Amino acid sequence: MIYYETERLIIRQWQQSDIAPFVLLNQDKAVMQFLIPLNEQQTITLVNKFIQHFKQFGYTIYACELKSNRQFIGFIGLWHRFDMPFSPCVEIGWRLFRKHWGQGLATEAAKKCLEIGFLEFNLDEIVSFCAKINIKSERVMQKINMVYCEGDDFYHYKLARNNPLSLHILYRIKKTAWIETTLHGRINSENFNLAQI
Ligand SMILES: CC(C)(COP(=O)(O)OP(=O)(O)OC[C@H]1O[C@@H](n2cnc3c(N)ncnc32)[C@H](O)[C@@H]1OP(=O)(O)O)[C@@H](O)C(=O)NCCC(=O)NCCS
Repeated sequence: MIYYETERLIIRQWQQSDIAPFVLLNQDKAVMQFLIPLNEQQTITLVNKFIQHFKQFGYTIYACELKSNRQFIGFIGLWHRFDMPFSPCVEIGWRLFRKHWGQGLATEAAKKCLEIGFLEFNLDEIVSFCAKINIKSERVMQKINMVYCEGDDFYHYKLARNNPLSLHILYRIKKTAWIETTLHGRINSENFNLAQI
């Protein structure tokens, strides 16, 4: 089982027991406010896609659980997107149960995923996007030092133009910029292994 740790979180491959809470997550009105809702079958299909992606690439959108009680709290991870105007690309994405918001957990998990993407899988660039009105998600992008791509706003192809969720923003971070903005600050403080870069 692939398994990463942060201070408060475990980021790992999917298991059968995640399905029921993930179905609930994808039907939660607050969580899905800026997203296209998913029913049970669509959720199962999505998990199967994540598992398949892992087999193909060695990373995926992972299940995320709290270290303190081993409770499933949502997902975090990286996956290839071939269906966006700026594809091919690797997207970082996140989704947590409402009661876990506002504690920096998404940011903590996302930082780990950038590290996985850049150090373990040597990705050149990671992108993130969300509905322009999804301020919380945009804040996470900013807090992990991603950069807004002015002029790259786009309309999501699955949504009608007049849908308030349709207009999306794009953020990017290159490996070189991640090393500059994130890694350099950690090298002294954490005795980071430079050989990994
Ligand atoms: C997006 C999401 C993962 C953020 O999770 P989180 O754990 O609360 O994120 P964090 O606590 O790490 O950071 C959130 C930041 O947004 C800020 N924020 C929260 N609500 C906000 C609001 N209404 N307006 C502006 N900023 C807001 C927080 O203050 C925090 O920033 P700060 O630490 O600088 O103050 C969570 O809201 C979620 O699961 N949303 C539903 C799913 C979703 O929309 N996913 C993205 C789809 S593209």
